[in-house]
Amino acid sequence: MCGIFGIVTDKEQNLGPVLIEAARRLMYRGYDSVGAATISADRIDLRKDVGRVDDVAEKYKIAEMNGQRGITQLRWATFGEPSQVNSQPHLDSDGDLVGAHNGNVVNNVELREQFMAEGMTVRSQNDGESCVHAVERYIDQGKDFIEAIRLAYADLKGDYAFVIGRINDDRLYAIKKGSGLVVGIGDGFTCVSSDLPSILPLTRKVIRLEDGEIITMHSDRVELRSVTDGHLIQRDVDLITEEMSAVQKGGFDHFMLKEIHEQPQTAREVLHRLGSDPGVKGILEKITNARQVYFIGCGTSYHACLAGSVFFAQLAGKAVIPVLAPQFIPQYAPAVGPEDVGVFVSQSGETKDVLNALQAASETGMTCFGIANVIGSTLTRKTSIWLPLSCGYEISVPATKTFTNQVIIFLYLADRMGGGDGKALDDLPELIEQTIRTTGRQVEVLAPLVNPWNDMYCLGYGATYPIALEGALKLKEITYAHCEGMLSTEFKHGPLSAVTAGFPVFFVAGPEDTALIVSGINEVTCRGGRAIAIGEADKQLKVNASEVIDLPHSNPVFAPLLAVIPLQLLSYHLSIARGYDPDYPRNLSKTLTVD
Ligand code: AGP
Repeated sequence: MCGIFGIVTDKEQNLGPVLIEAARRLMYRGYDSVGAATISADRIDLRKDVGRVDDVAEKYKIAEMNGQRGITQLRWATFGEPSQVNSQPHLDSDGDLVGAHNGNVVNNVELREQFMAEGMTVRSQNDGESCVHAVERYIDQGKDFIEAIRLAYADLKGDYAFVIGRINDDRLYAIKKGSGLVVGIGDGFTCVSSDLPSILPLTRKVIRLEDGEIITMHSDRVELRSVTDGHLIQRDVDLITEEMSAVQKGGFDHFMLKEIHEQPQTAREVLHRLGSDPGVKGILEKITNARQVYFIGCGTSYHACLAGSVFFAQLAGKAVIPVLAPQFIPQYAPAVGPEDVGVFVSQSGETKDVLNALQAASETGMTCFGIANVIGSTLTRKTSIWLPLSCGYEISVPATKTFTNQVIIFLYLADRMGGGDGKALDDLPELIEQTIRTTGRQVEVLAPLVNPWNDMYCLGYGATYPIALEGALKLKEITYAHCEGMLSTEFKHGPLSAVTAGFPVFFVAGPEDTALIVSGINEVTCRGGRAIAIGEADKQLKVNASEVIDLPHSNPVFAPLLAVIPLQLLSYHLSIARGYDPDYPRNLSKTLTVD
């Protein structure tokens, strides 16, 4: 959600192409507007608008922009509608300061009124502009730049990161408070960004900032300071060795399709990792002895929590409460304490709803663990033990491989807690591969049959219930159709009345629940509906359902997980058939760092 990038070089030069490329590499975070500013000794060039990076870049000839420093920002609207004036970066009143932010300044409205009352020129409703004026206020009082940022930090409430620069100064300045910020050190330049993909093509040397740190960027070095008293901080430079090909499409039309096909490999990697991760033992010990255990996440990650709670009951005899993160605060936080354990699950590790719940849980003394994909994210820094999803970059907004690995981690932990050694999962990567191969074609045949419908249901029971919820979320997210995920047995308690001739209802069938699912199927087909079963080849499913997507024969415990794959593929093909871009669904963001 929003992304910022800034670069300081050693001379005036053509920076437009660097800024466009950096913006493209932040697109996965979700955005509706894009802007770029270049700063020279005596002038600032600012170009911005609503639209896609390539369209805005072409319309405003961003590739031609020159300067010694540059800033680009992708905006996902929170304060103020998507519009040119609300797009970032923003200028100060006189136009000699320029800056952009990522995150949410919660007292924006109040600050804007103050700035206007103080005679500043406020042009937009956007909180990024408030960051600039907050610094301007103290520069105008004669403070030096670092002091002005420190004072602005005290005025700006919320979680954000921002980068700012001015004419007659060859540096940029940035500050981190709650939103991610990474610094890159190159040859003849330094840069800063919300995330690594925009830095790694330029340099492999990075410094990760902590909250409450200000960075002064020169072309050949950076200085890190604490915002509290301005003292200098020493921080080692990390060398990133990961391959950049991980963030490219590798021959697939979309990141989503590539990421679906990566699942056998990422499953192998996480299983390999779990076998030797010392964190597993610590987590299991605490869960075993806990008074109560909570699995906490949002969206897809919540569905993994729900699946995890079923596996813990079935394999380890341990009751776990799955919780949607924001609901943890009113419903459970007042009643938990040091005897309880929370496992916080998030692909990005930056979801504000999850971090809020983590904060509330930590304050009670509860033991908090994390499961996250982005190493170095806030979740991994704020939990005592965390397990990596080991998926590499997941660029497409719809989560696919990270969901599968979240579920695998829970399966593995439940199996270990139940006395197993995790080896039962060794066949899983091969089965995922087989499922992608065999269901891919079936799904392509099915897609045109359900495409005319804008209302559907996706039902499951037991461990297939969270899979049905996840399938429904994928369908909603990238086809823009309404697809409701539901417990199969609930369908007859109301929604059955929606069924008319051809109305599509998906049934995710676990091998041990086929009889129950077949009852539900018949309730739909006898009313003319189209019941599409997803399960292992089974005579009962074949004779009762309108269509069956066959899954390979597997261990009944992890068979439900395989069913998510045809649902991911179906969502992808329907999205394409409807002319949408599945990687960047409208209105959505990969990393939701706001309440
Ligand atoms: C999944 O396809 C969605 N994009 C969304 O539900 C996502 O899972 C949710 O926003 C939570 O994100 P997180 O895993 O990064 O915390």
